[in-house]
Amino acid sequence: MNRVNFDWLAAPYEWLERLTFGPFLHRCRTALLDELKASRSILILGDGDGRFLRELLLANPSARIDSLDISPAMVKLASNRTASERVRFRIEDARFAAFEAERYDAIVTNFFLDCFQDGELNRLVAKLAPALQPGGRWIVGDFRELNGSISGPLSKFLLAGMYLFFRVAARIPASRLVDPDPILRSHGLEPIRREESLGGFLAATHWLKPDYFPSA
Ligand SMILES: C[S@@+](CC[C@H](N)C(=O)[O-])C[C@H]1O[C@@H](n2cnc3c(N)ncnc32)[C@H](O)[C@@H]1O
Repeated sequence: MNRVNFDWLAAPYEWLERLTFGPFLHRCRTALLDELKASRSILILGDGDGRFLRELLLANPSARIDSLDISPAMVKLASNRTASERVRFRIEDARFAAFEAERYDAIVTNFFLDCFQDGELNRLVAKLAPALQPGGRWIVGDFRELNGSISGPLSKFLLAGMYLFFRVAARIPASRLVDPDPILRSHGLEPIRREESLGGFLAATHWLKPDYFPSA
């Protein structure tokens, strides 16, 4: 298995993002920040360069946060940006990381689930869902493939370009966008709020793990 490597992308990441999508990706990753204000124990996966983490620390003054990313360069940027004793950084591959049962009342995955293909995504969600407390929330910010007569082909074209870039530049395993919704549903999560932008090409979704969800 090729090792995923976002290290060289860490420094230019913010500027590449601004050049391609302007302010929209950051608006998407922070669109549901208000849902995390009362959370006490938060896991962020594929946290990246720390821009979301910095805003989360400001929005929530007391939560303990585990920020996991496979890229040491991304984690270094994030820790430089945020220096807080409330954050524990983990440099790990999420596919092989262990998570304590019901440890978190919130999970955040912004532009992260799109790095995985069906099987891997399913295994990852199966491992993460039990780490979330019943009644806990999972915030997913990501791209979505559209279906309209013009927007459909356009979204496919943009996604194909992005996947080509990230497969070559960062060796992500996925070659196309997998819709995480059926996988999250199959593990007992329910969508309760969705904020869309760019005609639905970007969406931030609040998923709830109901109280009656059986423990693993
Ligand atoms: C597309 S970037 C998104 C970063 C950030 N969440 C954002 O909103 O921009 C994907 C991030 O996930 C990390 N990543 C990719 N595959 C990973 C894996 N298997 N385990 C942990 N982190 C991973 C990368 O290092 C990178 O920081």
